Amino acid sequence: MTDATITHVVVPGTFDPVTFGHLDVIRRARRLFPRVTVAVAASANKHGRGTTFTLEERVEMIREAIELEGLPADIDVQPFTGLLVSFCAKIGAGGVVKGLRAMTDFEYELQQADLNSHMAPDLESVFVMSNPEFGYVSSSIVREIAAMGSDVDILVPANVAARLRERYASDV
Ligand code: PNS
Repeated sequence: MTDATITHVVVPGTFDPVTFGHLDVIRRARRLFPRVTVAVAASANKHGRGTTFTLEERVEMIREAIELEGLPADIDVQPFTGLLVSFCAKIGAGGVVKGLRAMTDFEYELQQADLNSHMAPDLESVFVMSNPEFGYVSSSIVREIAAMGSDVDILVPANVAARLRERYASDV
């Protein structure tokens, strides 16, 4: 086990699409660590389905949102395929930061953290408690509301809301 101080962390996710809840976690990760890379998983077969937005679109939306919402400009956003632990090793990140909303997140996150720690014992998993304001926000809820033609402006940044309107315009 290494004693090296962690200076670079990854905030991973599918981000389909990025929400204010995700941006809150990214912002807080950057307050805790000097270098943050947002890692966008290809997740092509998540739950046996594809994602609503392509990997390129999801990366682009996060980059736009970081600028629009005034998050530190040094936050890097990168796509990745394969294992998260391999991506962290490749870019030299020593930790993974994720947000925890309710207890329902806990079991899933614990399982992933245990698995990652088994594969990469020196990689730390760090959890931040999500801002209660965004406790109920998830990408799937955002997609569901947008698909029904309702406003998601209080859940996602303006650039994402615009893309969702565009995406679902023909369906409603
Ligand atoms: O936003 P999500 O869907 O909760 O993020 C999950 C993600 C992308 C972080 C997780 O599925 C992941 O790390 N995927 C990459 C593949 C991997 O490393 N799997 C083993 C750990 S679960």
